[in-house]
Amino acid sequence: MIESSDFRNARIPLSHGAGQMPALGFGTLFADGATTLSATRGALEAGFRHFDCAERYRNEREVGQALEEGLAAGGMAREDIFVTTKLWNTNHRPERVEPAFDASLERLRLNYLDLYLSHTPFAFQPGDEQDPRDQNGNVIYDDGVTLLDTWRAMESLVDHGKCRAIGLSDIGLNELLGLYESARIKPAVVQVESHPYLPETELLEFCKEKGVVFLAFAPLGHGMRPGPLEDPVILAIAARVGKTPAQVLLAWAVQRGTALLTTSKTAARARENFNISALPEDALEEINRIETRQRLNEVVKTGSPGFIPQGR
Ligand SMILES: NC(=O)c1ccc[n+]([C@@H]2O[C@H](COP(=O)([O-])OP(=O)(O)OC[C@H]3O[C@@H](n4cnc5c(N)ncnc54)[C@H](OP(=O)(O)O)[C@@H]3O)[C@@H](O)[C@H]2O)c1
Repeated sequence: MIESSDFRNARIPLSHGAGQMPALGFGTLFADGATTLSATRGALEAGFRHFDCAERYRNEREVGQALEEGLAAGGMAREDIFVTTKLWNTNHRPERVEPAFDASLERLRLNYLDLYLSHTPFAFQPGDEQDPRDQNGNVIYDDGVTLLDTWRAMESLVDHGKCRAIGLSDIGLNELLGLYESARIKPAVVQVESHPYLPETELLEFCKEKGVVFLAFAPLGHGMRPGPLEDPVILAIAARVGKTPAQVLLAWAVQRGTALLTTSKTAARARENFNISALPEDALEEINRIETRQRLNEVVKTGSPGFIPQGR
């Protein structure tokens, strides 16, 4: 639980003594490598120490380059940064998990990961084509492997010291319950879309009860307008407390007990998003009373990511 009212250095403990996750995470889903490099540099300079990556984003090399430069510049050690990447759907077969992990690690220029997530619970046809489709344009799924099979292979990465913690992304409560019961190493983190239009309260309650970190992606509603950034309640609170709408949304996320992943191409916004602090209690309650409901990313229903730029 976060105790400080200054969230910039807030850290949330992971289960099984797997370290601590900085509550403020920076996402690295960008359209191209050059943007990834400059944005990751900007985020490090702003103070972010938690970076969320994925083999599917096809830019782990550029994230790795920016992190390596940041570490080489001094003032920061590997233990000071928290790096996550994700296993893609085409690598769910157990024999593909460790090679996929090793390839990500090599691209990121790291020798261990803080967190490895299954990107979605959906297994796609194994192979090098990340978006396998049939002649009608439908995704080709793989029914020869279960999520538990994949999870067992991820558990052995922890056993061998290759990553500190493992978790799941884009999963609903029902599916999480099944896996949670069967897992030898319980998921330390669940990464899902969450903002005031999609609070996922039931899932959050389960996570709090079990000590699983709830990691919210799209806390700014993916920057979509209209969306949470332009919600009249958020705008009114921002004006009242002297913060920007983005700072209000991010503070709300941390104060309700979640970690978050925000992102920006620009260094100025990375600084704005890192410099957040606690909102008064009545502001939190007003945000909790917002009734608009909207899911922005359908990935949780199909395994096909909704925010990946076309052509990647
Ligand atoms: N597990 C999954 O399936 C999954 C799915 C989606 C995302 N993610 C992860 O979550 C990360 C964040 O997701 P997200 O992009 O949806 O996050 P977000 O922070 O909700 O939205 C980012 C968008 O908001 C804009 N923005 C950033 N700061 C702003 C500010 N202060 N004021 C106004 N607009 C601002 C950005 O535009 P500019 O860049 O132009 O500033 C960008 O378009 C991703 O990078 C990825 O790592 C995971």
